[in-house]
Parts: sequence; C-alpha cells; structure tokens
Amino acid sequence: MRVLFTGADGYIGALLGPYLLERGIDAVGLDTGYYREGWLYPMSGPRPQIVTKDIRDITAEDLQGFDAVAHLAELSNDPLGQQNPELTFQINHQGSVRLANEARKAGVKRFVYMSSCSVYGVGKDDGVLDETSEVNPQTAYAECKVRVENDLTPMNDANFTTCFMRNATAYGASPRQRFDIVLNDLCGLAWTTKEIKLLSDGKPWRPLVHALDMCQAIYCALNADQDKIAGQRMNVGSTDQNYRVIDIAKIVADEFPDCTLSVGEPSADNRSYRVNFDKIQKLMPDFKCEWTAEKGAAQLHKVFKAINMTPEIFQANPYTRLKMLMKYKADGLLTDDLYWSSSDL
Ligand SMILES: NC(=O)c1ccc[n+]([C@@H]2O[C@H](COP(=O)([O-])OP(=O)(O)OC[C@H]3O[C@@H](n4cnc5c(N)ncnc54)[C@H](O)[C@@H]3O)[C@@H](O)[C@H]2O)c1
Repeated sequence: MRVLFTGADGYIGALLGPYLLERGIDAVGLDTGYYREGWLYPMSGPRPQIVTKDIRDITAEDLQGFDAVAHLAELSNDPLGQQNPELTFQINHQGSVRLANEARKAGVKRFVYMSSCSVYGVGKDDGVLDETSEVNPQTAYAECKVRVENDLTPMNDANFTTCFMRNATAYGASPRQRFDIVLNDLCGLAWTTKEIKLLSDGKPWRPLVHALDMCQAIYCALNADQDKIAGQRMNVGSTDQNYRVIDIAKIVADEFPDCTLSVGEPSADNRSYRVNFDKIQKLMPDFKCEWTAEKGAAQLHKVFKAINMTPEIFQANPYTRLKMLMKYKADGLLTDDLYWSSSDL
C-alpha cells in the first residue's frame, strides 16, 4: 500500500513515517517544514522520503499513485488557532477539505483524518462523552475539526472512504518534540525547574493518548475493511486514560521525585471532557493502547537524561509551536498567511 502522510515533520508525523515503513507500508511524507529546526534526539529506524509543500498548494497531480492519504498537517493546537482564527479556517478547514477533494480526483481510495477530542469542548463533569454526544467546540481549532468531519462525511462512496480519528491529547517522546502539550510540558518543567506549578486547580479532565498509539490507530484505519470505517468518527485513546490535570501532575511528580508540586486557583479555561473509547475497539479490534501516562513520563525522563536536557532546549522555539511561528514571522521568514517569504535565503 502506498500512503501519503501529511505533517511528516511534526510531532506525530516524525514517528508515523518509521512506524508505517516498519510495517511494510510504502509511506511518503509531506510537510511545509515549520518546525524542522527542532530535533530533540537521534532516532533509529527507516526514514521516509519527505516532499516539502504546503497543503494549500497540493493538486491531484501530487496525489497520483497513492492508495491512501493520512492527513495530519494543520495548525495543531488551540493557541495557534486563536492567534489568527481566519487563517486557521483557511489551512485547517478549507485546506483539509480541498486536499480530500484533490485526493478523490486523483483516485486515492482512503482518507484518514486526524480530528481531536477537543470537538467535545466542555463536557458535563459527571458524564462520559462518546461519538454520539453533541460536539461543543470552544476554539477555532476545534471548530475546524468539526467542519472537516462534516464536509468529508458526504464524500464517502464505493471508491472513496473517509474516517475521522478523534484523538485525545498526545504525550510521549518524539524527535520533533512538543512541550506545549500537558504531560510533556509538566515533565519538562519537573526536569528543568524541579517544580510543577499548576496555574489552575487541576480539576479539568483531559483524556490522553501516547503519540505511538495514535500511529497505531492510523495504521489500523489504513488496513481496516471499508465497511467498518467509512464515514466513522472514532475517539482514539483508552477509557482508563481519562485523567484530571492534577492526576497527570501527580504522575509526573512521582516520576521526578525531587520536584515539588503546587496547585493554583480555578481557571477561566473551561475545557474539560471525559471520553469513552469503546467504539474504536469495536470497529478495529486490533487497536489497543500500549502506553500509559506513567510509561510516557518514564520515557521522557529517559530521553532528558540521555540528552542532558537544559532549560534552553526545553524552552527552544520549535518545541512550542506558537513560539516558532511567531519567531519566523517576526524575522520576516514567514508571511502573515504562513507561507515562506522567500526561497533565495
Ligand atoms: N498532538 C496532539 O495532542 C493532537 C491531539 C489531537 C489531534 N491532533 C492532530 O494531529 C495532527 C498532528 O499533530 P502534531 O501534534 O503532530 O502537530 P505538529 O504541529 O507537531 O505537526 C503538524 C505538522 O504539519 C505541518 N503543517 C502545518 N501546516 C501546514 C501546511 N499548511 N502545509 C504543510 N504542512 C503543514 C507543520 O509543519 C508540522 O510539521 C494535527 O492535525 C493535530 O490537530 C494532535
């Protein structure tokens, strides 16, 4: 199977390429390369060919000969999206829908889309949300995920299959590390400052999933029978990995025992959701999360020791997505609409 995966130079994409190649999939990556300055640690394993291109410029010609597309390339979190909501709609919503249309034109059979549990927004504290629950997106990022799901659903027919992976928040080590997601950030703080200071009371729920388990879900979706997954929305994670932020902080504090933990006031950020992950198991019985937050924290601890991670590395621009894009814009390397300014540098 020949697969194009977008976002190949991102946090999950950097793991997905080797993951697919090692399992016999002829995987080719695509990425515009916003975060290529960051490579936290060396990684063994096969490396895919990566095409440098913006998803907004992809045409059916670029997609000829691929059996499937796994689409990861977007502005990948709420702060990025809120910074310029209009641009977020341009890339994450319109860019993704256009890509799916070009893929269908090119004869691609399957389109696996990386959605997010953030579509649920604010859940009821005592309720556990599943795929039948009403969505309640709170940000441009989450709203785009909902719109892409809605626009791609009617595209399903005998020749074209779309499915939607509603991922929990990721954690774990990747060479293209992100420290702007909760468990990774807390581990970095614990290692570099010996202090975990929660700015909020830590009460909100956050389902978590390891980046490699997200790769496993994509692999399963690429291989699943068409009638099982066509048009399906699937939460990606495991029901036992719904954590309150305070529990995540305690897990990190246990892994880094020489650090202190303190808790703040209730926060204005009201995103909180507990999610049920039974459906993915029913549709793709081979899928099973292999990681837990405890294992993920231990994995990061091992990486930090191995590279002797300094505060400068932890705070470096590429590992916080918004910081990197702001820096490139301030330096004139990226235009306001996030195209590279010049090819003659
Ligand atoms: N990491 C998470 O916690 C999480 C959770 C749920 C869903 N997701 C989704 O999974 C996908 C991958 O997330 P990630 O954490 O690897 O993000 P990331 O920011 O690390 O990677 C995204 C990649 O896409 C590329 N990209 C962005 N816009 C592009 C464009 N216009 N053209 C070409 N390339 C472009 C970037 O250069 C980057 O390498 C995203 O769609 C994200 O919304 C991630």
